[in-house]
Amino acid sequence: MEYHNKLVLAPMVRVGTLPFRLLAAEYGADVTYGEEIIDHKMVKCERKVNEYVGCTDFVEKGTENVVFRTCNEERNRVVFQIGTSDAVRALTAAQIVCNDVAAIDVNMGCPKSFSISGGMGAALLNKPELIHDILTTLKRNLSCPVTCKIRLLKSSQDTVELARRIEKTGVSALAVHGRRVADRPRDPAKWSEIAEVVSALSIPVIANGDVFDYGDFKRIRAATGASSVMVARGALWNASVFSPEDKVHWEKVKREYVRKSILWENDVKSTKHTLKEMIMHYSCLELPEGKSVIKSENLAEIAQLYGEERYYQFVNENRFFAYGSRDELL
Ligand code: FNR
Repeated sequence: MEYHNKLVLAPMVRVGTLPFRLLAAEYGADVTYGEEIIDHKMVKCERKVNEYVGCTDFVEKGTENVVFRTCNEERNRVVFQIGTSDAVRALTAAQIVCNDVAAIDVNMGCPKSFSISGGMGAALLNKPELIHDILTTLKRNLSCPVTCKIRLLKSSQDTVELARRIEKTGVSALAVHGRRVADRPRDPAKWSEIAEVVSALSIPVIANGDVFDYGDFKRIRAATGASSVMVARGALWNASVFSPEDKVHWEKVKREYVRKSILWENDVKSTKHTLKEMIMHYSCLELPEGKSVIKSENLAEIAQLYGEERYYQFVNENRFFAYGSRDELL
């Protein structure tokens, strides 16, 4: 795994499942993060090869609940992001999945109360000893690259100081979301404060915040000097943001996402959530499309809504035949 000059799909809960990661990669993302998965959940999982779909699943033991799904095609670019507040538990979770992914990342930026109350996400930012413990434990015991993703602290000196401590743990790269914990998504990302982190470190920094067009990749790199650039909402609203050509129309991208959700049997809740986010950005959930997505109960209904019934039927009739020659279904 290399972190120089990379376009990176950011971790996004309920969005960054396998079909969305593959979609982003198809348009040009070099590195694709999965949604944050909490260590408590991952430690209950076992690895299962899913020959029916042609993927590898991490399934909660004793249930059919797929917590993380990946496939060979993304093995060299998928990053598994953990939510944790404990080094040993983080390691146990990471060891279950590390041979099937390109890197392990620790989320140190999530401001949601669920994360903070569990001592995870942004709650780690003011516990440098715990950060050190988690990252060095992962580094010492895993053979894959280990990284983490932070937000800005109260002052840029504090951010730089923390970033230096993180660098000393031996992580391969540091992703910096250019907002403070209390900032809202509409507040502008502070690229100048990311630049200060870049100047202070020798490891690659991945700059994140307010990239919405292909041209922004160049602008944020020029403004920060960062090695790589990570994008969340810009990709959610149109995954073709990674393509150097003109953006593909969002309706077409959305359709492609629906097809990939069918092909990889995505969790219907995640597909619905992602479609709702896309629709809300360009239109309104109160219109017939939005209402029908909300009402859908399974992928067959989603397929019907988007006129993909024949594709749905074809994929499901040909799964075993297609295993190993999946291209015929794409
Ligand atoms: C996020 N973000 C996020 N961050 C993270 O480290 N782990 C996660 O699971 C999530 N989940 C998530 C879901 C959704 C729907 C959004 C929009 C965002 C934060 C994200 O990775 C990124 O840091 C911010 O959105 C800032 O980047 P953009 O949106 O300005 O490109």
